[in-house]
Amino acid sequence: MSTPEHVKIVEVGPRDGLQNEAVSLSLDDKVNFINQLADCGLNYIEFGAFVSPKWVPQMAQSDAVFRGIKKSPAVTYGALVPNLKGLSAALDSGVSEIAVFTAASEQFSNKNTNCSIEESLQRIELITEACKGKDVTIRGYVSCVAGCPYQGDTDANQVAEIAHRLRELGCYEVSLGDTIGVGTADRFSTLIDTVSNKVPVNQLAVHCHDTYGQALTNIYAALKMGITTVDSSVAGLGGCPYAKGASGNVATEDVVYLLHGMGINTGIDLDALIQCSQQICQQLNRANQSKVSLARTVQ
Ligand code: HMG
Ligand code: MG
Repeated sequence: MSTPEHVKIVEVGPRDGLQNEAVSLSLDDKVNFINQLADCGLNYIEFGAFVSPKWVPQMAQSDAVFRGIKKSPAVTYGALVPNLKGLSAALDSGVSEIAVFTAASEQFSNKNTNCSIEESLQRIELITEACKGKDVTIRGYVSCVAGCPYQGDTDANQVAEIAHRLRELGCYEVSLGDTIGVGTADRFSTLIDTVSNKVPVNQLAVHCHDTYGQALTNIYAALKMGITTVDSSVAGLGGCPYAKGASGNVATEDVVYLLHGMGINTGIDLDALIQCSQQICQQLNRANQSKVSLARTVQ
């Protein structure tokens, strides 16, 4: 298959990134971070999560974050919602794009959301039902699409089945999460081939953590399979607190560099993104995981 002309990048740094950081940013710093990302030309930013603060304290201020950010009309601002309580908080804050999440592994589902896969789908159904008639769009995630930290390898047919359920429940797009980054390129191609029998490929995205250094290769394989939406995190921030050993997502700068090198349009200013990346790493007192940012800022 030929490569796409345009790829949408879903920036998950303020959510997937910050949820796993030891240093908690101030509200102002979070707001400035998100505004800066928007100024770089990113047009989808996952800014937070309306999850239990007992489970993920770093996301506790998501309502205030949303109220504080400058809402660029060019940007979709999304947030994770795990249940009706989270939905109600998101809607009260004025959020109109949410992301629901489940997993292809029972054990991960239990560790992450304290329920089975089936129960999580029932919660999602309650959420999507409650959104009917409201001006809310819903994205879906399936975690552990290649493997699980507790259960090992994942069956692609199981991922396809869950992605299909999310689609039927009203998710306009399903993001395939390699939560612990164990996938490799051929495996990703097979996965997308299998899942796209159940959900059209233009309604799928990939969400690659870079734990094993395979993320860019897997994204390349996914693009060749017709995927046109890629999740990534500036500076490669983050991970999932309930997936032991998971490192950050693929760095947005590295994805942008890859895409521009392939002649694919993203609308993103790479130099501005590198500046933003360096700044957030200083604030978090952590090393930058983006090879492109490191290469461009070496003295
Ligand atoms: P639970 O403990 O079973 O829930 O957690 P509960 O209903 O028994 O409630 C426990 C307490 O939390 C109660 O408070 C609730 O009010 C409160 P208390 O009465 O004890 O004071 N609570 C809430 N507070 C605020 N907002 C809410 C909410 N819900 C309950 N929405 C629950 C179940 C789902 C809530 C919990 O497990 C949870 O929040 N999990 C989220 C974990 C998470 O955010 N993980 C990271 C994101 S997923 C990810 O990173 C993967 C992804 O990136 C893709 C990939 O990489 O694969 C998306
Ligand atoms: Mg993730």
